[in-house]
Amino acid sequence: MNKTAAPGFFITTLGCQMNEHDSEKIAGLLEASGYVEVSEMAEAKFILFNTCCVRENPENKLYGRLGEVKRLKETDPGIIVAVCGCMVQQAVEREKLEQAYPYVDLIFGTHNIHRLPELLSRVEAGERVIEVWDEAKEEVEGLPTKRAHNLKAWVNITYGCDNFCSYCIVPYVRGRCRSRQADQILSEIKDLVSQGFREVTLLGQNVNAFGKDLTPPMDFADLLAEVNKIDGLWRIRFTTSHPRDVNEKMIAALAELDKVCEHLHLPLQSGSTAILRRMNRGYTADEYLRLVEKIKAAVPGISLTTDIIVGFPGETDEDFADTMRVVKEVQYDSAFTFVYSPRVGTPAAKMQDQVPEEVKRERIMHLVEVQKEISTKANQDYVGRIVEVLVEGPSKTDAQVLASRTRTNKLVHFTGPTDLIGNLVEVKIIEATPWTLYGEVVTR
Ligand code: 5AD
Ligand code: SF4
Repeated sequence: MNKTAAPGFFITTLGCQMNEHDSEKIAGLLEASGYVEVSEMAEAKFILFNTCCVRENPENKLYGRLGEVKRLKETDPGIIVAVCGCMVQQAVEREKLEQAYPYVDLIFGTHNIHRLPELLSRVEAGERVIEVWDEAKEEVEGLPTKRAHNLKAWVNITYGCDNFCSYCIVPYVRGRCRSRQADQILSEIKDLVSQGFREVTLLGQNVNAFGKDLTPPMDFADLLAEVNKIDGLWRIRFTTSHPRDVNEKMIAALAELDKVCEHLHLPLQSGSTAILRRMNRGYTADEYLRLVEKIKAAVPGISLTTDIIVGFPGETDEDFADTMRVVKEVQYDSAFTFVYSPRVGTPAAKMQDQVPEEVKRERIMHLVEVQKEISTKANQDYVGRIVEVLVEGPSKTDAQVLASRTRTNKLVHFTGPTDLIGNLVEVKIIEATPWTLYGEVVTR
């Protein structure tokens, strides 16, 4: 058990970077409420699951983990169990948790994180508290944030999404797209820089839709230009961009702004125009390919990564072959690949011709295999080159080895003194695997 006077908290985060960053805010709020973070769930007085519902897997994971917690709570009934995040924004899941998991003491949603201190004090007083808002009443600024790193930070720029891709639950659980005020974003980043942060990742479900809803409207590229002016900031990243919202100005910003890194995560989802139409993606395979061509021409050496779904309803062998063709043509540095997972409440879940599980499995295995070859080749192209890396800290596997990232977001391991941590260093790449590059410091 936790021997310190302050009660411990333990957060399990499922899902995307948005959730990871929400968990940083939750951790900040818990610390402000007198809790301390502990490294083992068994040591915690407050156990929280920040959930994801974008696919079935993360949902199943939650129910598995709740079983573990039940046992802990049987030995220590004083433990507080909480569930928050995207899953509980869905009434069906929330009711299931409420009824079938009576040992869950607190449920709150994605729109009322700032209410945690008050909700928690009611739970501490013995109440079971369930408070989920259907929509964001206002975005609360300035929440205390316990960041996972001290060099690189996530900064929200948009919340929610308006795209309503037919397979996706996000617009229903995160709400419509809302942009943060630019001055709030800029002052958060300036503050981060004054604390020693050197890299920011601008976050949103659809970052390049930023500013359309502001009065007066603002362009994403103009925000990048403003962030680029901040002294002491070295690197700017952003995710996720929608191909439909990539304009000439954004490509120029990628090419010209010195702090904006040469990496673009540009979800393809499918390489078949027929499937893209049914996904409501707003571009054809040809338009996507032309866009990629333009980006590659403007930003030589740019790293492109993507998300792909296989087995969307009605996906034929020909449709899948189209996806494989686009994958081979673009030569992504890496890809997140997903088997289509029907989400209740989305239009695609009601489509007739759902693809059998074994066909989905076969397709994803083939895609993963081909992408692995492409990623290997992309990384091998780095061998012999000298690249600038930001040294982030010791590697996860070996404390003697330093972990760093190129501007193109490649992970580079090399041996060197720990005082390089926090610095930009030139490294010569000597070996490559599909996931990691290995290098040595260049001494001049
Ligand atoms: N099934 C499978 N993958 C999905 N994604 C979103 N919704 C689904 C779904 N229902 C994938 C998309 C998205 C990524 C975050 O998750 O590829 O870009
Ligand atoms: Fe979902 Fe599409 Fe919005 Fe991405 S752009 S969050 S896939 S609806």
